[in-house]
Amino acid sequence: MKLVAGVATGAVALAALGAALAPSFAQTSGAPAAFAACRACHTTNKGGKNGLGPNLYGIIGKPAAAVPGVSYSAALKGSKLKWDEKTLDAFLANPSKKVPGTRMPIGTPDPAKRAAIIAYLKAESAK
Ligand code: HEC
Repeated sequence: MKLVAGVATGAVALAALGAALAPSFAQTSGAPAAFAACRACHTTNKGGKNGLGPNLYGIIGKPAAAVPGVSYSAALKGSKLKWDEKTLDAFLANPSKKVPGTRMPIGTPDPAKRAAIIAYLKAESAK
């Protein structure tokens, strides 16, 4: 368990570093390549449609499973998570490890990619 916690902490530290470097990238070039895979199921614009997954506008700061009109898994509804950079980072790294039973199908193992995605979601939500 200690080892797992250590690895997770390391990933968060790396993600924080990436987030510190990412804003200029997010501002100048729009969506990072890492977000391309997410587009199939998620929109990020204000009032955007839910697809297979919920609209992600303003997701940071929201409780998990709180976007209206989405039929969430019982697992995510029951998770009691609140999305901040840390919980989002852990979820995106391996959704079904953070929330066993979630219907969110893909993980992003690369911390730099997760940091770019989180920075992008923040930038989109500020629009
Ligand atoms: C094949 C469709 C699909 C893809 C691709 C996908 N997601 Fe999801 N996502 C979902 C579904 C479905 C849920 C709801 C999961 C549940 O109810 O357990 C979800 C949930 C989420 C949530 C939690 C939303 C909330 O309201 O609590 C976030 C954040 C998220 N996805 C981000 C991403 C990101 C970032 C990517 C790209 C790396 C991505 N997703 C790729 C389908 C997808």
